[in-house]
Amino acid sequence: MTTELLDKYNVQGPRYTSYPTAPEWNEGIGPKDTEDACARANARKSPVSLYVHLPFCDEQCWFCGCFMKVVPKPDRKGDDRAEIEPYLADVHKEIDLLAKRIDPSRSIEQVHWGGGTPTYLTPVQADRLAQHLLETFKPAENAEVSVEVDPRVTTAKHLEVLKNRGFNRVSMGVQDFDPEVQELVNRVQPFDMTKSLVDAARSLGYGSVNLDMIYGLPGQTRAGFEASVEQIISLRPDRVAMYSYAHVPWLKRPQRVLAAHLPEGTEKFAIFVSGIERFVAAGYVYIGMDHFALPHDEIVKAQQDRSLTRNFQGYTTHAGCDLYGMGVSAIGSVDDMYLQNTKDYGEYHAAMVAGRVATVKGCRLSDDDVLRREVITRLLCHCVIDKRDVEKTFGLKSFDETFANATAKLPELVDDGMVTITADEIRVTTMGRIFIRNVAMLFDAYLEKKTADSPKIFSRTL
Ligand SMILES: C[S@@+](CC[C@H](N)C(=O)[O-])C[C@H]1O[C@@H](n2cnc3c(N)ncnc32)[C@H](O)[C@@H]1O
Ligand code: SF4
Repeated sequence: MTTELLDKYNVQGPRYTSYPTAPEWNEGIGPKDTEDACARANARKSPVSLYVHLPFCDEQCWFCGCFMKVVPKPDRKGDDRAEIEPYLADVHKEIDLLAKRIDPSRSIEQVHWGGGTPTYLTPVQADRLAQHLLETFKPAENAEVSVEVDPRVTTAKHLEVLKNRGFNRVSMGVQDFDPEVQELVNRVQPFDMTKSLVDAARSLGYGSVNLDMIYGLPGQTRAGFEASVEQIISLRPDRVAMYSYAHVPWLKRPQRVLAAHLPEGTEKFAIFVSGIERFVAAGYVYIGMDHFALPHDEIVKAQQDRSLTRNFQGYTTHAGCDLYGMGVSAIGSVDDMYLQNTKDYGEYHAAMVAGRVATVKGCRLSDDDVLRREVITRLLCHCVIDKRDVEKTFGLKSFDETFANATAKLPELVDDGMVTITADEIRVTTMGRIFIRNVAMLFDAYLEKKTADSPKIFSRTL
């Protein structure tokens, strides 16, 4: 990889957890749209995925790009979380609201708690919420029920109560084990703290443990990151997410303090590649973009049989579900619509008190959006596009004619070693997997409209 090629491909671009991406959504979408989309989804009896957003954290990690709120407490693992009770009461109301709108005969295949930090809740609060949610929406037998946790505030008791309620997957934030990096990003989390929580999850019988890392953080070096990767590997997580640090200080002000120390360009690339090499050498499968998994994990099988898909949590095995989001800022994807709740706590509370859903933003997909979303998803998940299959699925006369703009640019990507093309398929190379966002961007109709002086929206692709 030359510096020129790196500069050429390391441009701003979406992560494609949705298509059209969030900047294209509009505020003309509201509660009535949610009601109508729910009715259409009920008619199809599609399976259901539920997401609950629990935005609270004790402290701010300077790198954080999530929608979160710091509610500090003197006793970090203490029981005093009374301040968030009103929010939890609203989420309980939203569960009841959705229960009236989702046909009870539909299968609940996926439940996910994200944040913020869901285990900011005390075990008692978490137990109460889990009981209400999972008794209202009883998950199917093979359902994936998962929670994101921060080892700094999570106790074995948290994991135990959630396991007893039916949670079977846990995802822990680590980012990097290097003490200097941890200091620089305001997230001190010793290795032993993470290890003991992984051990607790295993002995409680969680079927899958995921660990999150971030590359491109301030103070990271290739050697230091490799040491962290080795420590992660020693814990043998079933899945690893190794995210590229998304530096978007125009959206996330705390990130500004990190600007001076960031590894860039070839250095960031070397850190990433060394991470890939170590995980692959340790027996992990590189799923693509930022995900690795052990060969037994169902995400690997899903990639092989092409049932893998993407949603707001990244890669997921449950294609075909309608996603219902609960909590402030939560996003749903129901029928042909993306639907987002308000980010304003007061507005969310008012909606719950009034007994109406809190949708304030979203997007209705056109036929062209649906087609492009499918092509982008297939690229990101399977790293190959079978043109004849896309033509058959969507009744197209010619893939190459429909995507004439993208097709015209492909030979350049072939020359750069990112893809190979034949009359029937576009296949992403090993190098192309690293820059897969750039390949997907060719099929994004909205990016074509952006000009060089459009405001900053996305993080860089590397
Ligand atoms: C909601 S947090 C996980 C749970 C918990 N709050 C924690 O941090 O342990 C989700 C994950 O997003 C990733 N993340 C947060 N900000 C990011 C950023 N700016 N760029 C890339 N990844 C980021 C981190 O890896 C983090 O673990
Ligand atoms: S990374 Fe996790 S713990 Fe840190 S501020 Fe963001 S949501 Fe909170």
